[in-house]
Amino acid sequence: MSALPALASVPAGLVNLADHEAQARTRLDGNAWAYFSGGAADELTLAANRHGWDTLQLLPRVLQPLSGGHTRVQLLGRNLAHPILLAPVAFQRMAHPDGELATAHAAAALGAGLVLSTQSSIALETVAQAVLDEPGRGPLWFQLYLQEDRACTLDLVQRAEAAGYEALVLTVDAPVHGARDRERRAGFTLPVGVRAVNLEGWPPAFLPKLQPGQSALFDGLLRRAPTWDDVSWLQTQTRLPILLKGVLHPEDARQAAGLNVAGLVISNHGGRTLDTTPATAAVLPRIADALGGALPLLVDGGIRRGTDVLKALALGASAVLVGRPYVYGLANAGAMGVAHVLRLLRDELEIAMALCGCRELAQISRDVLWDPTLSKNSTASHQYE
Ligand code: FNR
Repeated sequence: MSALPALASVPAGLVNLADHEAQARTRLDGNAWAYFSGGAADELTLAANRHGWDTLQLLPRVLQPLSGGHTRVQLLGRNLAHPILLAPVAFQRMAHPDGELATAHAAAALGAGLVLSTQSSIALETVAQAVLDEPGRGPLWFQLYLQEDRACTLDLVQRAEAAGYEALVLTVDAPVHGARDRERRAGFTLPVGVRAVNLEGWPPAFLPKLQPGQSALFDGLLRRAPTWDDVSWLQTQTRLPILLKGVLHPEDARQAAGLNVAGLVISNHGGRTLDTTPATAAVLPRIADALGGALPLLVDGGIRRGTDVLKALALGASAVLVGRPYVYGLANAGAMGVAHVLRLLRDELEIAMALCGCRELAQISRDVLWDPTLSKNSTASHQYE
C-alpha cells in the first residue's frame, strides 16, 4: 500500500460546498479554474443543473420516529454507508499534486464510492492499490471511454479488472468535447507533468486524410464513434457490471435496460458537453417513470447540498455523484479537503432526512416534494437496508 499523502488542514471558515468553491477559486490558476469550473458554450445547462435542485421545494413531515436512523443503501449488491459517490473527473493533479490518490484516500475514509476517470493523472493500478484493502471503503469503479482501437479499450478493461475495480462506468455522452468557450478563452493547456497516464503507450488516433467536402468531425474524429453495438460488444468482454453514464432520453434509458446494463447515471456531464439540455433534476423523474424501477439510477450535476441529495432520492435515484465540489476540496486541502466536502454533504443529508421526518432512505419518496405537477407515486425500486 502506498503512503498516505501529506495531510493539509482545511482552511478555517469553510462550512459548505459553496465556501469550498470560493476558496478554490483563489487557489487555482486561471487555466485550471477554466477547466474545472467551466461548462459548454453559454453554460446554460451548468446553471440549469443548480437551478433544478434549488427550485424543488420540500414538504416535511413532523413528529416522525427518528431514532436509529441511518443513510445506508445497497447498490449493485454492496452495502454502502451512504449514497454519495465521487464522479469521474479527469486530470486531478492539476488541482493538487496528490491528485486522484488523495481523492481515493478520502473516499475510502468516508465510505464513499469512487469512480476513477479513464483520463486520471495517476495510473489506475496505483489508485486501486492504495485503497483496495481499506476497511469500510466504498465501491471502486472505473469510468471507461471507448477508445477508437478496440485493443486499447480491452487493455484498459483488463487492467481495471486485474487492479480490483468492481464495475465499469461507460460514459456515452461525450464522443466529442463540447464547445468549451471558457477553456478556449483561457487558452487552456494541460500543465507539464499532468497527463492521461492510463492511455500512454498507445499510438495517437489515426486521422485519415480528408477528401474535399468531408467533415473533419464526422469523417475524421467521429468516423468510429461508439454505438449501441459497442456496448453489447463490451458486455461480452468483461465480467464486470457496466453502468452507462450520460443518459438523458427515456428511449435511451429503455434501450439500455433492454441490454441489461447494471445501472444508469443520469448526467449531462456537469454541463460540459451539449449546452441547453435540461437539468438532471428535471430528467430524472421522467426516466424513473419510464423504467419503473427496472434499473438502479444514479444522478449527477449541480448537487451541492444534502437537500439536493434527498431530492434526487425522492425523484427516483438510488445514489448521487458529485464532481466539481470535491475537486475544489482537493485544491483547498488535498485528501483532507475531499474528506471535508464529503463529510459536509453527508451531515447535511442526515439533517435534511431528520427534518423531513425520514429516518431511512427508503422513506424518502416524492411525498417529500412540494410540486403539484409531480405524481405522488414513487416508482423507484431502491434497495435500501
Ligand atoms: C468531468 N466529468 C467527467 N466525466 C467522465 O465520465 N469522465 C471524465 O473524465 C470526466 N472529466 C471531468 C472533468 C471535469 C473538470 C469535470 C467538472 C467533470 C463529468 C463528471 O463525471 C460529472 O458528470 C459532473 O462533474 C457532475 O456535475 P457537477 O457535480 O460537477 O456539477
